[in-house]
Amino acid sequence: MVAREGTLADSSSETPGESLVPGPRSRAHARRAALVECPAFGHRRSERPGALPEDSAPIVLARAAGCELFDVDGNRYLDFAAGFGSVLIGHGHPALKRAIREQSDLLIQGLGDLFSSDVKVALMENLAALHPSGHGQVLLTQSGSDAVAAALKTATLATGRHGFIAFDGAYHGLGFGPLAACGFQASFREPFAPQLNAHVRFCPYPGVRGASAEQALDLVQKTLRTESIAGILVEPLMGRGGCTAPPLGFLVELGRLAHDAGALLIADEVWTGLGRAGGWLRSSLDGALADIVCLGKGLGGGLPISACVASQEAMAGWASGDTIHTSTHAGAPLGCAAALAVLNTLKAESLVAGASALGERVQTLLRARLGHPRIIDIRGAGLMIGIELDSARTALQTTRRLLRRGFLVVTGGIDGATLTLTPPLTMSEANFAALGDAIRECVEEP
Ligand SMILES: Cc1ncc(COP(=O)(O)O)c(C=O)c1O
Repeated sequence: MVAREGTLADSSSETPGESLVPGPRSRAHARRAALVECPAFGHRRSERPGALPEDSAPIVLARAAGCELFDVDGNRYLDFAAGFGSVLIGHGHPALKRAIREQSDLLIQGLGDLFSSDVKVALMENLAALHPSGHGQVLLTQSGSDAVAAALKTATLATGRHGFIAFDGAYHGLGFGPLAACGFQASFREPFAPQLNAHVRFCPYPGVRGASAEQALDLVQKTLRTESIAGILVEPLMGRGGCTAPPLGFLVELGRLAHDAGALLIADEVWTGLGRAGGWLRSSLDGALADIVCLGKGLGGGLPISACVASQEAMAGWASGDTIHTSTHAGAPLGCAAALAVLNTLKAESLVAGASALGERVQTLLRARLGHPRIIDIRGAGLMIGIELDSARTALQTTRRLLRRGFLVVTGGIDGATLTLTPPLTMSEANFAALGDAIRECVEEP
């Protein structure tokens, strides 16, 4: 059962049944939220296909430290979701808090693209160096969706073309630009279809709905031959679509095909990047040199900041026209200071290499604990690990049961059947082992 404040999530001192998940305070807050929040969210929870008859009321979060979260009732959870992967270096990391505090004393908001701040310049230098060329150029943005929108515009300007290749099952954010390229769920696109880029062509992604790399590359090649394609937008490892990694060589081949056709390779590293999936850039780790890289999520360590980082050649398209991609808060100093602290902490604590090695050990330990007919597959890279269960229903039920045991895990995958683990890179191996044992108990529970 869930741990109360002052005990560990896996502590033996807890009293089963002592705490309720969700507790009364969470329920009260959720009732208030239901009156004022857009109904898409509560509706989705209760109407989802295969929704559980049992309680699906949410917990309401109050505070966090390191890898632990606390709800408003004081229940403690080990956080295997980490703000959908954005809390890269843990909640309230001292270096991040210090940077935010110090920047707050100096300058919270600047003047975007008109007058940069000193921290913005420093951050752009760091991000430019992360580009596979070693000297990219940067458009700072505010969300993953915004970074992808900037990338699509960059490729359009660089090539003078409007078509894009995207992939079945991919998720790139829900702004109008990226939404057109979201193969994750057709229902996200359909109501807005007439307003979306009609020049996006979807190709299969290896491992999704049984597609092979050969099938995918074949269709990519045909599409590049017959359509006017500006870029191939790809997740180097499909995150929301179920932590599915394409075979080694796939991304390299995509890059080759794109370049042969005069198109660009756009790596959406919003989720995979910055150590999450085993390298600073998952695409570079696989040997693919993307022209444009999108970063987000973990970049701000929890604050909303993202970036489109492109080769100087790709960015050159912006130099000749009279258009821009910016917004009031783009490159705001507070977010830049947070991002610099995240990048410095990743380096200082060797978290990128650490997460890569830990991820391999974790997959091994999970496989050892999770040999069960309801567990179909364990996959991913670094600390982006998917555990596919036999149905969306089992997955949802398991997350509810895990919550009661003090583990926060969310579901993903194109059919919702995958437990998606994207904890802070500082999560311990022992906590993964405890989670593995708890998942086993949950799937065995009648
Ligand atoms: C690969 C990828 N790209 C883009 C996005 C969109 O990011 P955001 O939700 O910050 O707009 C996400 C979000 O999950 C993502 O996983």
